[in-house]
Amino acid sequence: MKEFLAINESTLIVDTEVDCDLYLKSNVNGVPRYVLFSHGGEMFRGDRRKQLVENNIKKLYVYANSYKTFNDYQEQNLKTILADGEKSSSEKSNIVYSVAKNLAQELLNDTKSGIKIDRVTSWADSTVDYILGDENAFSNLIKVTSHDYQTYTHSVNVSVLGLLFGKYLGFSQDSLGSFGTGLLLHDYGKIEIPLDILNKPSSLSSDEHKIVEKHPEAGMALLTKEGNIFKDSLIVVAQHHENFDGTGYPHGIGGDEIQLLGRVSRILDAYDAITTNRAYKNALKPFSALLEMRETMINCFDMELFKEFICFLGNANSLIKSGDNGKYSVQSRNVNNVQNHSCIIPGA
Ligand SMILES: [Fe+2]
Ligand SMILES: [Fe+2]
Repeated sequence: MKEFLAINESTLIVDTEVDCDLYLKSNVNGVPRYVLFSHGGEMFRGDRRKQLVENNIKKLYVYANSYKTFNDYQEQNLKTILADGEKSSSEKSNIVYSVAKNLAQELLNDTKSGIKIDRVTSWADSTVDYILGDENAFSNLIKVTSHDYQTYTHSVNVSVLGLLFGKYLGFSQDSLGSFGTGLLLHDYGKIEIPLDILNKPSSLSSDEHKIVEKHPEAGMALLTKEGNIFKDSLIVVAQHHENFDGTGYPHGIGGDEIQLLGRVSRILDAYDAITTNRAYKNALKPFSALLEMRETMINCFDMELFKEFICFLGNANSLIKSGDNGKYSVQSRNVNNVQNHSCIIPGA
């Protein structure tokens, strides 16, 4: 039996063409039955929307193997979806995340059809509009981030978290757009790392490390060749592994030689990696992650930015309703003492 996936009726936009078949679900004696609602390529007209609303139908279904087509539809219409005052913020967050995941997965897996920089920039710009225009975007986006590590989910998590942190730091709208683009592409150079090294469940040999350490420059070279990428986005790709004390790679630069976006990226990249389940290590909770970063990696970070990051996560916690386990919410009262933009550094 074919597998179907549910989609929300509200993600369909009137007068757009949906490229995959859409189905309605009914139950006949407890057995689900799927009935064709519209053919792929058919225009979704206002009367069809009315029909769904009048019958209180909130979900439609697509074949699992057509889900990518549906995701492409959401990507193409992202700006319109996010501008729709009728849609809930949590639904918009799910769509933002799902579109980015689809895009990042395609970038890293389908290397033959080239880099989709325009699509990444367009996703980042739409997401920035949403983040700046919707006060609930913060808590909803934090809730949808994934706990399981894949290079593509890591890229999406870092990008979403970075846009929220960038807004907190007061970045301009344009800077946020290029920052989000750079973050979604920051590990793009990993497409040149052999999969047996990239997915190795145990620790890497020093030769393997050297191969992994080439990914910022490989990413730079591939993206520069493409030609239509912002300089600020490239800084993120080039500098996200440079440490503040000069012990990072690829160039071993330190302090203010690393640009602001590079220094912020270093924190985001490390934080997402240790709050996500890896083959060799379980995810740490946000508070433990901050402690570990402070105790074992503090040389890597710009201390002022690291303090801001802790305050930012404390704010995230205060925005997320109690009982929710948002990946990035700091659940300990020790770092939740945020007042007038000041906070307590764990252990400090
Ligand atoms: Fe990286
Ligand atoms: Fe990374």
